Amino acid sequence: MTALEAKDLVKDFHVRVGLRRINLRAVNGVSFTLTPGRTVALVGESGSGKSTIARMIARLEKPSAGSIRVTANDREVPSKHYRNHVQMVFQDPFASLNPFHTIAHHLARPLKLHGRPHGHDEVIKLLARVSLPADMAHRRPHELSGGQRQRVAIARALAPGAKVVVADEPVSMLDVSIRLGVLNLLARLQREEQLAVLYITHDLATARHFSDDILVLYKGRVVERGPADDVILNPQHPYTKILASAAPNPDARGRLLDIDPADVEEAGSAPSYDHYTDELSQ
Ligand SMILES: Nc1ncnc2c1ncn2[C@@H]1O[C@H](COP(=O)(O)OP(=O)(O)OP(=O)(O)O)[C@@H](O)[C@H]1O
Ligand SMILES: [Mg+2]
Repeated sequence: MTALEAKDLVKDFHVRVGLRRINLRAVNGVSFTLTPGRTVALVGESGSGKSTIARMIARLEKPSAGSIRVTANDREVPSKHYRNHVQMVFQDPFASLNPFHTIAHHLARPLKLHGRPHGHDEVIKLLARVSLPADMAHRRPHELSGGQRQRVAIARALAPGAKVVVADEPVSMLDVSIRLGVLNLLARLQREEQLAVLYITHDLATARHFSDDILVLYKGRVVERGPADDVILNPQHPYTKILASAAPNPDARGRLLDIDPADVEEAGSAPSYDHYTDELSQ
């Protein structure tokens, strides 16, 4: 079992303002734990520090202070194996895929890099885990839909055997009609493979539905945290109250993500609220 503990994370950026250099504290004393089979949502307005936290967890950015500790079966994961355990899914799947390489190449590479079997069968198995058909293996990124590309990005994150997944606004660049399919996929993988997920989003409605706990970030600090329903139904901090009041009411059927159920049924994919737990493929 793999878990991640972030403790008192701080990130300072030195930015130039005219002739002066100032210190910008983007993340200010943030702590949380990610545990197997649970999703924590990190919500907050633009610039609140969400991606900076994600980038520190992914080791793309070094914390100015604080620590990130990953344990597998109660033993600390050494630095050189960190990426076997912790992987990211980014907002823009297109930007994270190379247009010249096939999907098979994109999936075989991380398998190989992490010393795993990386033949055609393994690639097909990975595609199946994200509900993509085997013939996708021979295609290139531009021959896939946005949702399919994001599924490939998820498969690639899982390839090394990662059990901690940080998804930074994984569906915000996708068409609304396919967002739920990708979120349902993440939820299914989380459940079936006992992943520990950090789900970063602006969208309180999906944060509530797809996560166990919510952390509300405001100007680099966690201002509120707790079980998803509590945070949304009974917000304490003024900023959370504003967020919660601006979010669509997920109890109103079909309102989530502003999808009109009639339109959806017509389109044949039916990602209405009742079908949340179903797996959707596009
Ligand atoms: N490399 C950097 N250099 C300087 N400042 C940065 C850098 N990266 C982020 N920042 C600043 O840190 C703050 C937090 O940025 P971050 O990208 O983490 O926000 P965010 O919550 O992910 O926002 P969004 O919702 O728009 O994605 C912002 O003020 C941003 O301008
Ligand atoms: Mg961001």
